[in-house]
Amino acid sequence: MEQTRVSNIAAFEGQEVELRGWLYNHRSSGKLHFLQLRDGTGTIQCVVFKGDVSPEVFARCGELTQESSLLVRGLVRRDERSPLGYELGVRDVELVHLAEPYPLAPKEHGVAFLMEHRHLWLRSSRPHATLRVRSEIIKACRDFFDERGFILVDTPIFTPAACEGTSTLFEVKYFEEKAYLTQSGQLYGEAAAMAFGNIYCFGPTFRAEKSKTRRHLTEFWMIEPEMAFCDLQQDMNVAEDLVSYVVGRVLEKRREELKVLERDIDRLEKVTKPFPRITYTEAIEILRRKGTDIEWGADLGGDEETLISEEFTAPVLVHRYPRAMKAFYMKGDPEDERLALCVDMLAPEGYGEIIGGGQREDSLAELERKIAAHQLPPEAFAWYLDLRRFGSVPHAGFGMGIERVVAWLCGLHHVRETIPFPRTLYHMYP
Ligand code: 4AD
Ligand code: MG
Repeated sequence: MEQTRVSNIAAFEGQEVELRGWLYNHRSSGKLHFLQLRDGTGTIQCVVFKGDVSPEVFARCGELTQESSLLVRGLVRRDERSPLGYELGVRDVELVHLAEPYPLAPKEHGVAFLMEHRHLWLRSSRPHATLRVRSEIIKACRDFFDERGFILVDTPIFTPAACEGTSTLFEVKYFEEKAYLTQSGQLYGEAAAMAFGNIYCFGPTFRAEKSKTRRHLTEFWMIEPEMAFCDLQQDMNVAEDLVSYVVGRVLEKRREELKVLERDIDRLEKVTKPFPRITYTEAIEILRRKGTDIEWGADLGGDEETLISEEFTAPVLVHRYPRAMKAFYMKGDPEDERLALCVDMLAPEGYGEIIGGGQREDSLAELERKIAAHQLPPEAFAWYLDLRRFGSVPHAGFGMGIERVVAWLCGLHHVRETIPFPRTLYHMYP
């Protein structure tokens, strides 16, 4: 008898198969047991008729508990009433493990309780749908870059220095020395871009974010392309292409999951190129017109980002922020020295910044000056400065936070639901 999974069940209509999974729900009436079996790819109703199975098997089915693991064998039948379109006419049920009373019975639980049980909650329909979308987003990002000839270069997690400001560094003991968990693979990505032309890195990044917001994790995943011979304009084109590719892929492959999540799919269908592009200065004008008293030079926080994104249906690229608030590696705008050649992409519907990046400082003298001005330890950046000594070229890149994109596409209020096991200021369990 063939083993199969619920997602492939249609191919086995009229045949006997073995399914392996967990009991999601269970109801009985006299001569029948209805077992809802989930196997990770879907859920199927398995109908156990007293006349079709041995008396022992029929009796055992009455004693099964939620999340007990089972092997179920039977005949695949078409069933117009079921959402799946098929059910299983059971011939045999083999118990693998009888589960203890399950804490997450199918009823309403608070988020705090669910988070404490995240290791079990993953089995429920919302996290399950969310993480399938996440998996597709990551695949789409990788496909996007692979199809365009970018080389995947893995960057280190233990680093000797800060990339994104010293206030959010996680310090770890590294034998007799100190190291920091990486905040971004960018600096290493720049070295790799000088070796391969176009590269990307993808991995976990860490920020000791002391703020408790719905957009910040202390451990999150970032995909970061870096391109040699690339300016801010071209960088923005790649960011726009990537995001529209990812949205298109999720709409194509994960529509069912978006429905489970009750995502307003129309809003995602409106995400089409070209995306609007505005300068930071124009963003400040929008904010002032909308009644805030923000001054030119101030950073845009979550609330400001939401106000700006409300003006557009697609993500908006905000470029050329004041240099003073930005990282040391950014190139100044030759047309206005107060500005940096940088860009943030803000997702619609108030999901905030999903991408940050820009053109890098390619002059050795300028970079040395900036490292000093940011009071960064020059020894730690000696290797990075070498990149400006040996064939320095204009180059640019960006980082896209996977969790922010998942939150946006799934319509989730908080990023903690977008990653299997979130890490936040107050949360490191399970
Ligand atoms: O804007 P950020 O800090 O940019 C960088 O790290 C650059 N070095 C990237 C580059 O140019 N290669 O972070 C990039 C993105 C943000 O736009 C956001 O999506 C995400 O990373 N991000 C976070 N996501 C979740 N929790 C946090 N604490 C995040 N911090 C940044
Ligand atoms: Mg940023």
